[in-house]
Amino acid sequence: MIPIHCPHPFFPEDQTTPIPGYPLSKLAHEVGSTPFYLYSRAQLSDRVRRLRQFLPKAVALHFAVKANPMPALVQHLAAEVDGFDVASGGELRVALDTPMTREHISFAGPGKTRDELLMALAAGIILNVESEWELQQIHQLGQQYGYRPRVSLRVNPDFEIRGSGMRMGGGAKPFGIDSEKIPTIVRALDASTLTFCGFHIFSGSQSLNAEALIEAQKKSLELALWLAHQCQCTIPFLNLGGGFGIPYFPGEQPLDSQRVCEALAHALPAFQAAQPQTRLNIELGRHLVGEAGYYVCRVLDRKISRGQTFLITDGGLHHHLSASGNFGQVIRKNYPVRLISQIATKETETVTIVGPLCTPLDILADKMTLPRAQVGDLVVVLQSGAYGKTASPSAFLGHPPAQELLI
Ligand SMILES: Cc1ncc(COP(=O)(O)O)c(C=O)c1O
Repeated sequence: MIPIHCPHPFFPEDQTTPIPGYPLSKLAHEVGSTPFYLYSRAQLSDRVRRLRQFLPKAVALHFAVKANPMPALVQHLAAEVDGFDVASGGELRVALDTPMTREHISFAGPGKTRDELLMALAAGIILNVESEWELQQIHQLGQQYGYRPRVSLRVNPDFEIRGSGMRMGGGAKPFGIDSEKIPTIVRALDASTLTFCGFHIFSGSQSLNAEALIEAQKKSLELALWLAHQCQCTIPFLNLGGGFGIPYFPGEQPLDSQRVCEALAHALPAFQAAQPQTRLNIELGRHLVGEAGYYVCRVLDRKISRGQTFLITDGGLHHHLSASGNFGQVIRKNYPVRLISQIATKETETVTIVGPLCTPLDILADKMTLPRAQVGDLVVVLQSGAYGKTASPSAFLGHPPAQELLI
């Protein structure tokens, strides 16, 4: 195969598989049908191991299940990470099916339903409270059913991660409680009926800028200290959020996570001097799982329309909305894509790879140079381990769902 793309940490350009010993064509037979998502246990574990090399020992590593709630994958990560953060009752069920200690599971997200709150109370996990109304509901349900809620307040800080892909803090937001309102709320908490667990500060997502992440972590530690001072409280747990990104598009460089972790180690002593008992954690989604996942579909047809070559595949935006450019992108850019040819060829061509949906939005790669493709070849979209299957409108047009395989 001819080198065309930037190097991938786990999928060398000249290989036919990201998992040594398991050619993708064989895996496609094993799965039974295309399209499918493939996730690598070795690559998931490798990512956690590398992070832990530099992450301060005092900072626990949590997985944000929303990035990939496949039950087998979450089971695998239960043995690798220190905790889970879930965003719905469905994700909570997946997390509770693992051996993860309940004390290390937290539930964040606006609009939690009464049933979800009750599930969380019964399970004894931490609820990251998103509003004053939610806090009232939690308190009331705890009283009614005899549960002692464990609550942490999600803080909407007055800053965000500079230039992050998704801004979750700063300004007016539906997420968390504005930082300036927190002291009054904490002072009014009734310690005889609930357990105050601390704060959750999540200020952004998908950042590749180490400096911006270092700045956000420093501000989060300062904010937590300011809150503790204002509330006259100690902080049992402090969730510093995450925001660690992965490179998706040409020209993007991987995040220097070592630098971010080392800066955190440097900033910690000042915080720990004031709050020595606090248990800290970060919560990462895509950075843990994104590069360990591959979306594989098959070329069904190739056609030329007015000089442009189209490869029509059995996969598309109904399985992988992110790669189609319709999930969070303003200007569409191509995810990295590989072609696994049935017949080795040195010939290349520029193609647009589309799915089977009758919409011009259903594009997996636009005008990309790849080895010349035949019907039956496999198309692999890299960086597909996060916000893939579950972030896509799978019912749209009634095509079969993508399978998932963890190997
Ligand atoms: C509260 C919270 N935690 C974690 C994440 C995971 O973000 P990422 O997958 O970019 O790490 C998000 C993303 O929106 C979030 O809102």
